[in-house]
Amino acid sequence: MQNFDYMTPTRLIFGKGVIEKLPEVMGKYGKKVLLTYGGGSIKKLGLYDKVKELLSDFDIVELSGIQPNPKYDPSVLEGVRLCKEHNVDVILAVGGGSVLDCSKAIAAGAKYDGDVWDLISYKAFAKDALPIVDILTLAATGSEYDCGGVISRTETNDKIGYVDPHLYPVVSFLDPTYTFTVSKKQTAAGCADAMNHIMEQYFCEDATLLNDGFCEAGLKSLMINARKCLDNPEDYNARAEMMFTCTLGCNGIYALGNSESGWPCHGIEHALSAYYDITHGEGLAIITPRWMKHILSEKTVDRFVKYGVNVFGIDSSLEKFDIAEKAIQATYDFFESIGIPMHLKDVGIDESRIGEMAHHIAVNEGLENAYAPLTEQDITDILNASL
Ligand code: NZQ
Ligand code: ZN
Repeated sequence: MQNFDYMTPTRLIFGKGVIEKLPEVMGKYGKKVLLTYGGGSIKKLGLYDKVKELLSDFDIVELSGIQPNPKYDPSVLEGVRLCKEHNVDVILAVGGGSVLDCSKAIAAGAKYDGDVWDLISYKAFAKDALPIVDILTLAATGSEYDCGGVISRTETNDKIGYVDPHLYPVVSFLDPTYTFTVSKKQTAAGCADAMNHIMEQYFCEDATLLNDGFCEAGLKSLMINARKCLDNPEDYNARAEMMFTCTLGCNGIYALGNSESGWPCHGIEHALSAYYDITHGEGLAIITPRWMKHILSEKTVDRFVKYGVNVFGIDSSLEKFDIAEKAIQATYDFFESIGIPMHLKDVGIDESRIGEMAHHIAVNEGLENAYAPLTEQDITDILNASL
């Protein structure tokens, strides 16, 4: 078991109607608020009006239009400008992972004098950040309980996971009823994203029995509850369990004491969504079974056996490579069964830029140090197999 140093300082306020606590919570951080949100789903939900009503005593500046795969320019830059110009005390992020991630970069940038890209690209490190409170509306990324934000810079095809302990939200409001309106496409993509977060922690060299059990339960919970959410979008218990499982997915708790895996599928997918602006969870679902097939070997087969037997109930008396192959097929079949397009061509990606993307990934993602090390050629092969 590996050493670890762990703390998540975020307060989670979970359940139906918890938003009523918003004024009391926000009051602790100040009166000048930057309210951030996306393309309008929070208005359709009635959440925008509710927030404005609850915070009628606060002075609110707004940044709207934050896109999926949030962009450095204009969203992060504009948010930082607003915070500085209006002397903002606290950011209230209302939306999915993209709104939260963008708000995290803004929170750090607001307290930094130089070019915010220096922070995102690790040329400089934040000494402070504005507090972030969020109201989550989409179960997927776990951004509400971690200290990372993923920011895209279109002109350089960069999509960088910016991680810094200053970026933990101070409070996350998790009301599953706000996820009732999430589309089938985003529900399925959110499930695939959270499943992959767990897999990225499960497939490693050195894992504990405790973590394995935790991960296997998380994967089963996501598969069962995502199906229920797709069948009945207003199934409160299914939306609630899915939301909480996603929340735990990305802050490291599933892998405390495990060795590092290198998060290879994320390394590959971030380039896909940087180059083609695709939905993150769909990109992961396409890459994951191809990556699994590519890394299956004498060294990795026992992990696949455990995964296949404990997550998918595959007969443990079969030959080990047979179990592993069945487990990989079951992973593919599950994603396909919840409606995810399972080929890159289905999401608008052809072979033309595969070499360029593989090179970008090999140079920037450090996958030569992953659990199953990946060279540029390996990455090219995985991308080609995903077409
Ligand atoms: O923009 P609006 O109108 O709000 O619509 C959004 C958006 O179009 C919509 N939506 C959100 N809540 C809704 C809703 N529609 C109806 N009802 C609701 N209640 O859903 C669409 C997608 O939203 P987005 O925030 O982009 O989705 P998600 O939460 O999956 O976030 C994806 C982003 O997070 C990054 C991804 O790379 C991607 O950029 N990630 C962040 C991580 C983190 N911070 O830890 C880890 C992840 O691995 C991931 O990389
Ligand atoms: Zn992810």
